[in-house]
Amino acid sequence: MKGISFYFMVLAVISVTCGMALGIHMAISHDHTLAPVHAHLNLIGWVTMALFAIYYHIVPQAGQGLLAKIHLAVATAGVVTIVPGIALAITKQTEGLAAIGSIITLVSMVIFLITVVKTGKARD
Ligand code: HEM
Ligand code: HEM
Repeated sequence: MKGISFYFMVLAVISVTCGMALGIHMAISHDHTLAPVHAHLNLIGWVTMALFAIYYHIVPQAGQGLLAKIHLAVATAGVVTIVPGIALAITKQTEGLAAIGSIITLVSMVIFLITVVKTGKARD
């Protein structure tokens, strides 16, 4: 695994490491208030980023252009805004960061949709 797929996998593993630490903290403290933070750190950060990594690994031409670099930047920005954003929303501080993070996360997935369609068509 190298290039874009490597960076997506690093992002994924950092996310699940933090997600597990938060999970253990919630379990020990018996305070599950931040469960949606933990859930999205693991499901957007770990599962989704790892799926991106695997796709770019098995379809290497998808990871070669500028769009893949933009995708990595947008996806990273999405994780690092939506996760603390959910925490701020749950603790009733502000919903602003979660809103921004969710839009960035959606844009990341739209970029991936374009990538999948483009590379799928090129292989026909
Ligand atoms: C060290 C590992 C982990 C620990 C100790 C842990 C712990 C927890 C705890 C205490 C909760 C709250 C449960 C509740 O309030 O009902 C939770 C919820 C959740 N966890 Fe984990 N977790 C771990 C790893 C993971 C991983 C790897 C994933 C996903 C790939 C994951 C996905 C979820 C989801 C989606 C929820 C929310 C479930 C719901 O709200 O119904 N967790 N976890
Ligand atoms: C733009 C991206 C996303 C947004 C804005 C979003 C938003 C939300 C919201 C508002 C909830 C309800 C939380 C609650 O009732 O406390 C939720 C729950 C959940 N979401 Fe997401 N989500 C997103 C992406 C995803 C993705 C990609 C996955 C899975 C791969 C996922 C899995 C879940 C699960 C399992 C729950 C229930 C667990 C829980 O309540 O903590 N979400 N999401």
